[in-house]
Amino acid sequence: MRPETLAIRTQTERTGEKEHSTPLFLTSSFVYDSAEDMAAAFADDTLDVNIYSRFSNPSVDEFVKKVCLMEGAEEGIATATGMAAVFSSFMTFLSAGDHILSASAVFGSTHAILTKYLPKWGIEYSYFDMNKPETIEGLIKTNTKLLYVETPSNPGLDIIDLKFVADVCKKHNILFIVDNCFATPAVQQPIQFGADLVLHSATKFMDGQGRVLGGVVVGKKELINQMYLFIRNTGPSMSPFNAWVLSKSLETLYVRMEKHAANALYIAKALEGHPALSWVKYPFLESHPRYDVAKQQMSNGGGILTFELRAGLDGGRKFLNSLKWLSMTNNLGDSRTIASHPASTTHSKLTEEERQTVGITPGLIRLSVGLEHPDDIIEEILQALN
Ligand SMILES: Cc1ncc(COP(=O)(O)O)c(C=O)c1O
Repeated sequence: MRPETLAIRTQTERTGEKEHSTPLFLTSSFVYDSAEDMAAAFADDTLDVNIYSRFSNPSVDEFVKKVCLMEGAEEGIATATGMAAVFSSFMTFLSAGDHILSASAVFGSTHAILTKYLPKWGIEYSYFDMNKPETIEGLIKTNTKLLYVETPSNPGLDIIDLKFVADVCKKHNILFIVDNCFATPAVQQPIQFGADLVLHSATKFMDGQGRVLGGVVVGKKELINQMYLFIRNTGPSMSPFNAWVLSKSLETLYVRMEKHAANALYIAKALEGHPALSWVKYPFLESHPRYDVAKQQMSNGGGILTFELRAGLDGGRKFLNSLKWLSMTNNLGDSRTIASHPASTTHSKLTEEERQTVGITPGLIRLSVGLEHPDDIIEEILQALN
């Protein structure tokens, strides 16, 4: 079966109740038939038996299995949030004395982990510019353990050639981790290009309706096994309820991403050249600096676009205040279109220099394009721009 079908047809084994829709295993622990079975479950970390929902749960396993099938991964593990996925992958594979090389254009909290927390524990980091992949090799040190990218990046929509980076990592024996949150597996499968691990904030398009938090990491079995022990012992596990919601959502991910992308491209094209904007950025616009790479590794441009208001920081605030019905919130990947102005909100505590490092300009508006009629969305944006 194809991934589109597997996302719909993968389901926990039907119970005696003959349910059609997948059941929710809202239980914190599991029982045993005998003292011997219980002892065996605890004796072997690798035994495939449910013990406690911090370790494993059928609803969570169903969600993870679907993501693995969609990403073409051997194994996976779910986490409570996207940040728990990022943090757990860093903590599992990095030790004091190691060096991590990351794209500078990463999500704000990932930037905080890299710059504020990892150095506290003796782990060094360096940033590279996603638009200069040729500089990566020169930044590799003898203690470089891991290379991290988001593509497309949040919120700058920078794109990097995954195959190129994967080849550099292979040559230097470095673990390559990709945050695939913006594209989703319905649009891009980084493992196909050589990534070792792929992670997501499932809170975004995977949920698709702004309801629950979640994260997931998938990739090589031997790597996920190490992450499993870290997560099992330290506790950032996914709630079974959230997993159930997310697993149902994955049934519609492919069709939703097609519509998000069609709407986003329509709006990006309609806005390009507007006199109030200095630029519009969207992976599948020919004007995107990495349009060729986007076409090569993504099946559509995804649901996020950005534009820069000529009126800068004040213009950003005014734009948000002029919206009539479009949602003003920091989340993304919802059926409802969302506008955000990172410079005055999510990234306002960063210094101007830090904002530049992560690709945030004063008048940058990030639009998470929803599933409404595209003409309604563009009319709302145009009236706010006017
Ligand atoms: C690219 C990216 N990675 C990670 C995260 C963190 O995810 P969460 O909010 O689920 O912790 C986000 C959240 O916006 C994100 O956009």
